[in-house]
Amino acid sequence: MKNIVLTGFMGTGKSSVGRRLARELHLKFIDTDGLIEKEAGINTNGIFEKFGEAYFREMESKVINEISTRRDMVIATGGGAIVNQQNLEALKRNGIVICLTASIDAILSRVGSGDERPLLSRGDKKEAISNLLKQREPFYKKADFIIDTTTKTVGEVVEEIKEKLLAMGDRQ
Ligand code: S3P
Repeated sequence: MKNIVLTGFMGTGKSSVGRRLARELHLKFIDTDGLIEKEAGINTNGIFEKFGEAYFREMESKVINEISTRRDMVIATGGGAIVNQQNLEALKRNGIVICLTASIDAILSRVGSGDERPLLSRGDKKEAISNLLKQREPFYKKADFIIDTTTKTVGEVVEEIKEKLLAMGDRQ
């Protein structure tokens, strides 16, 4: 079975939805940020701080290349992963790419006021989200399908994905 890849902006629910979807479909769940952190031995914030974003993106591409050769997984990527066309192509090779979206206010409330997201940790958070979202939109549109999670629960998004996959025929 093809992988089910969840991508989209920070705070759109990729990890929560992915974990539940994997459980319901009896598939393995993989989170690319988690793999990167495991390999680096420090968290994403630490990688950005110590080595910079370019290094994080290199590690992200490496991890995506490795996991894209496998099947039968639900994969949640970091919000910037598919800005790189090669990452998107690798993920699509063995997977169906689903982009989760949400309104700026929903994203703002879900990411909270903490500092764990390096790209939103400086300046006004709402403005940072809005600017980055604008830059990212053309890339997110390249997903196989898009689901707006703004007013939905995790369970509702999972159901919607399952219905979409069924309507697509299958995931072979
Ligand atoms: C990023 C999103 C983060 C993480 C890193 C960069 C981005 O993942 O990969 O901080 O560029 O949007 P989440 O989308 O899971 O927060």
